[in-house]
Amino acid sequence: MDEPILLADPPVADLADHEARGGLAGLHRARELGPGATIQEVILSGLRGRGGAGFPTGRKWQSVRDAVAADEGDGANRAFVVCNGAEGEPATFKDRAIIRANPYAVVEGVAIAAFAVGAERAFIGVKERFETEARRLATAIDEMAAAGLLDVPVQVVLGPDHYLFGEETGLLQVIEGEPPMPRNVPPYIHGLFATVPQAGWSASPGGVATEFAASNPTVVNNVETLATVSRILARGPEWHRRLGTERSPGIVVATVVGDVVRPGVGEVELGTPLREVIERVGGGVPPGRTIKAVLPGVANPVVTADQLDVPCSYEGFESIGSGMGAAGFLVLDDTTSMLEVARAVSRFLYVESCGQCPACKLGCGAVTDGLDLLLSGAATTDDVETVAYRLRTVTDGNRCYLPVQEQRVVGSILSAFADEVNEALAGSPPPSRGFLLPKLLDLADGVATYDGSQARKQPDWTYAEAD
Ligand SMILES: Cc1cc2nc3c(=O)[nH]c(=O)nc-3n(C[C@H](O)[C@H](O)[C@H](O)COP(=O)(O)O)c2cc1C
Ligand code: SF4
Repeated sequence: MDEPILLADPPVADLADHEARGGLAGLHRARELGPGATIQEVILSGLRGRGGAGFPTGRKWQSVRDAVAADEGDGANRAFVVCNGAEGEPATFKDRAIIRANPYAVVEGVAIAAFAVGAERAFIGVKERFETEARRLATAIDEMAAAGLLDVPVQVVLGPDHYLFGEETGLLQVIEGEPPMPRNVPPYIHGLFATVPQAGWSASPGGVATEFAASNPTVVNNVETLATVSRILARGPEWHRRLGTERSPGIVVATVVGDVVRPGVGEVELGTPLREVIERVGGGVPPGRTIKAVLPGVANPVVTADQLDVPCSYEGFESIGSGMGAAGFLVLDDTTSMLEVARAVSRFLYVESCGQCPACKLGCGAVTDGLDLLLSGAATTDDVETVAYRLRTVTDGNRCYLPVQEQRVVGSILSAFADEVNEALAGSPPPSRGFLLPKLLDLADGVATYDGSQARKQPDWTYAEAD
């Protein structure tokens, strides 16, 4: 990989610059092919969504297109496209890096998706605090609309600084003017501005059946996924298949932060060993230090030091019982208290849980309390059993994936680092190093800035006064 594929350097200045660097070829190609063949190209490319779950993108688009086509009633079903730029996963900065480098490729991908599924409108959701990215996207949309390149309106929607804003149904709620409370039904079945009941949390008019009942299937794709689509249409599915592995074709934009020499964001071919990604993107750990563990965000089990040769691919991470997530890697060196890391992850998920499902909110809270006790050296075996019980039941009746994350990440740390649990039970917890979960505010020139206010965020989503 000589030329960057998504992280244009220097950043693309304007629409003419985008075109001069090969941009817009994907959109023109899609229009030549037509909607059905465009979806086929995406299916053939093997592209998997980069938002975390790795769901096949072409298949998602096809199901939305089929659902609209199958509307036998009054044709009331409308389709929408939503680009997920919430980037709430700790240890990730890749979507913001992609938007900063080339927002035109993102909007181009949105336009291709809207064309392919027959959407009547598209939205790009970013956090209100992502001011640079929102401005870059708005300018790109204006320029592309003025050049007659957008068939449908594309709108930037600014959202709150809550983790669930990035959960796809929480994102739909925000676009509809509600808080990001996840719904029961996925967007490709029950989408934006639907007029059939979705048994969601809200009793607003959108949840009430009318004579023009429509579920409005909606494509939700991550920023990186859609930017990659623009490249696939321009260069062809074979080009994409030549990169990466059989089950994980292409490249991924990885973020490497934590105990590394130079935190950063970089493109790597899928299948590259994690150890090499940490070296190339983050400069490795400083001299004299060794890696104790790596957290692939807060959605997948911890990777231990003996697993660092795992290929960065969906199947590679699956083979060690973890997941690649959004390829955001938090490197933890040998000075780390893993109990403290488990507690930070648990508190983050407890605070961010919305409370619609009691086992999730109460369970994450109870696990956090138990870990606090362990870290204080005052826990008993009963407290550890309570933690284990809550980790087993935290997913009961869950509406979204957040409590599964609690179960998988916290559970994996406690079992991989059981020696720390035992030492804490014996009254000697590992020394604290004031670990802060890397919710990234900025990442540029090898410097990562973390959001210190997250530590003050309360379970009701308010913030305690700063000391
Ligand atoms: C709690 C939670 C938070 C999430 N946050 C994000 C996020 O910030 N950005 C993102 O793209 N996907 C996020 N996701 C995944 C989305 O729900 C969804 O799967 C993704 O946007 C689909 O896009 P893709 O198919 O292109 O990967 C989150 C999921 C969960 C359960
Ligand atoms: S599982 Fe947790 S975060 Fe998800 S909707 Fe239920 S309470 Fe909210």
